[in-house]
Amino acid sequence: MKRAEAIISIYPDGHKKAAVIPLLDLAQRQIGNWLPISAMHEVARLLEMPRMRVYEVATFYTMYMRSPVGKYHVQICTTTPCWLRGSDEIMAAIQSKLGIKVGETTKDGLFTLSEVECLGACVNAPMVQINDNYYEDLEVNDMNGILDALAQGKEPKAGPYNGRFASEPKSGLTSLTTPPPGPGFMVRDDL
Ligand code: FES
Repeated sequence: MKRAEAIISIYPDGHKKAAVIPLLDLAQRQIGNWLPISAMHEVARLLEMPRMRVYEVATFYTMYMRSPVGKYHVQICTTTPCWLRGSDEIMAAIQSKLGIKVGETTKDGLFTLSEVECLGACVNAPMVQINDNYYEDLEVNDMNGILDALAQGKEPKAGPYNGRFASEPKSGLTSLTTPPPGPGFMVRDDL
């Protein structure tokens, strides 16, 4: 509740309903990765807004889960760049290792598998999101290793798995190889 109050306090008087997205996210995290209707009602009460307005937000954004998911929500991107870079193989590896199909949860409640559209990391395709982390530049072995580590309660490293830093080229920088001069900087010979 303290955190909810802090979030609400960011918004000016008369506009606290603008906090609906972060409050729904907070509720989802508190409950364990999903958002029951009772939580939507509590957010509506806190923000003094009609329940229907909260339903509209909760049903529009795909990051709100309206039914329970496993401890680890594996969201695999299969949009064109990820598909071209092998998301079919990654999907097959996940399904085979976990024994579930898209939309299902493992019997131990650990993993739920979802197929999603572009998650904005196309340059690091193929990739999956698991809870708050992105796992990128994946090959089948990487995916299996990540799932094994999670099943053992470990924290696999997030980010690219092909050895590069962030979205930089693996073979080294091809541009932006010197520090940028910064805005408004001019080179003058007379200084
Ligand atoms: S296509 Fe997969 S992250 Fe954009």
